[in-house]
Amino acid sequence: MKALVTARLSEEILAPLRPAHDLVVNPNDFPMSRADILDKIQDKEGLLCTISDRIDAELMDCAPGLKMIANFGVGYDNIDVPAATARGIRVSNTPGVLTDATADLAFSLILAVARRVVEGDGRTRSGKWGPWAPFSFLGSEVTGKTLGIIGLGQIGKEVVRRAKGFRMPILYHNRKRIPENEELQLGAKYVDLETLLKESDFVSIHVLLNDQSRGLIGANELDLMKPSAFLINVSRGPVINENALVDALKAKKIAGAGLDVYEKEPKLAEGLAELNNTVLTPHIGSATIETRIAMGKLAVKNLNAGLMGQKPPNCLNC
Ligand code: DGY
Repeated sequence: MKALVTARLSEEILAPLRPAHDLVVNPNDFPMSRADILDKIQDKEGLLCTISDRIDAELMDCAPGLKMIANFGVGYDNIDVPAATARGIRVSNTPGVLTDATADLAFSLILAVARRVVEGDGRTRSGKWGPWAPFSFLGSEVTGKTLGIIGLGQIGKEVVRRAKGFRMPILYHNRKRIPENEELQLGAKYVDLETLLKESDFVSIHVLLNDQSRGLIGANELDLMKPSAFLINVSRGPVINENALVDALKAKKIAGAGLDVYEKEPKLAEGLAELNNTVLTPHIGSATIETRIAMGKLAVKNLNAGLMGQKPPNCLNC
């Protein structure tokens, strides 16, 4: 079978595909252009793509033989899954293997923004570090503060487990409440979104991007948060109205934000980069060597299964 791999992956990761399939692999460390993908996909049965590639009906129609799309990523808002289903194309993602890395980053952002780590690093390097004083460069305590999780899936639950070490009471809001025994085990209390926003000291977002979650946090929601609270997002940028967030941060309606994802990434909303009550990372939630290798291997496993006519382990539409 013929397959297109839109990211440069190591031979170790691609090895299981080599014996049975003919691969075209992006040789570069930057994404393929849309035109290049449209050109190279035409005679392919398989596609291994990343979250940077928009895989829509137009692209699928360029490849009449396409059978399997394996996404390198857990979020799959880059793929029109209903369009794939309508064309009999199987789609998969890479859940599980990036849970710990992403939860670690969410917690890094909580600690970094609350304790002004990045601002402090800049101050130290610049030589503008004055003498130690009892009330200078103060941050917010994390231990014992209330953490509100929006989207208590695998990643949200791992953030909760990390928060337990900081003795943080946990609130959560989900489309569907989790079973009571799991709530008890995690020590997480289900509340509506309004209560979560009003009562949390840290609000951390872990939802998939879809029609329900797009723009979930806008000016009205930010108004509900405490002026001392922090907003953390490692899910997808469009869940937050970024202009509204910049306004809220400027007006000190909330204390700060730790963001790994952006509404129009890699572009930032005007004014965001100038605010020092933010910690901004470049979509690196899953970016550890171990996790990215595991994601690659899982995407390859899914692609191989789909091309062999088997059900891929992480199929989203079969
Ligand atoms: C994903 O897999 O959806 C992540 O955002 C990639 O880091």
